[in-house]
Amino acid sequence: MDPQEDGDPGVGADVVVIREYQDSDYREVRGLLASGMGEYAPALCAHVLRQPWVLLVLSCTFCLLLASARSLLLPVLALTLLLAAGRQALTWAWGLYIARCLGEDLLDVRAAYAEEAGGRFWVAEAGGRVVGTVGARPARGEARELVLKRLTVRRGWRGRGIAKRLCRVVLDFARLRGSRAVVLHTVVVQRDARLLYAGLGFRPGRKCVCLLPYWPLPSA
Ligand SMILES: CC(C)(COP(=O)(O)OP(=O)(O)OC[C@H]1O[C@@H](n2cnc3c(N)ncnc32)[C@H](O)[C@@H]1OP(=O)(O)O)[C@@H](O)C(=O)NCCC(=O)NCCS
Repeated sequence: MDPQEDGDPGVGADVVVIREYQDSDYREVRGLLASGMGEYAPALCAHVLRQPWVLLVLSCTFCLLLASARSLLLPVLALTLLLAAGRQALTWAWGLYIARCLGEDLLDVRAAYAEEAGGRFWVAEAGGRVVGTVGARPARGEARELVLKRLTVRRGWRGRGIAKRLCRVVLDFARLRGSRAVVLHTVVVQRDARLLYAGLGFRPGRKCVCLLPYWPLPSA
């Protein structure tokens, strides 16, 4: 496997430039975002497994099977199958979500984040490769709010402040265009992202039914 496949910084590739998206970035941007979102499938499974109602269903199933079969083998097998099926189903559902994202704004990045419509998309580039992305566009039904979207940093390039720089570009853009707030959605399992946003001053807002917290920013 290419050691730089995951984005391990090579020699001389440590200068990171933030610039606006170009059409030639299209494939790299989509690939980077798909793999960034894909990282969360295992964390999502673990999160669901920790939910009290899931634990209750699993325990009841185990006890019922144990009582009726009077052997440990059947309940252990059934539970293993149930867990494997649940993991597959969640991974599949998350894959559908990623495919949906790739078919929405990421299908035509330039059009979805067009300047004429008040949007903008940036990439972080290092050594000729795209190592980070972020987009911003007016919120639906609230043009004075800007939505920060598609923030991701290539694995080997994390922990160097790239995401913080990308977010600050969006915040500066929001101030420049006179936006009232910058808002974004994050999934409960995106721990690193939530720490990043909290550090930048984002405040948690109302939680959506689909477990997506909403974070309005006061300072933009
Ligand atoms: C979240 C993500 C964008 C962070 O990128 P990054 O370039 O590593 O982040 P930065 O180096 O700019 O870190 C900025 C802050 O984020 C927080 N943070 C980021 N990664 C962290 C980690 N692994 N542990 C703890 N805090 C972390 C810290 O507060 C950090 O500030 P500090 O360095 O002053 O402590 C990156 O992990 C990623 O791409 N994840 C997958 C995609 C994703 O979750 N996107 C967000 C969608 S809402």
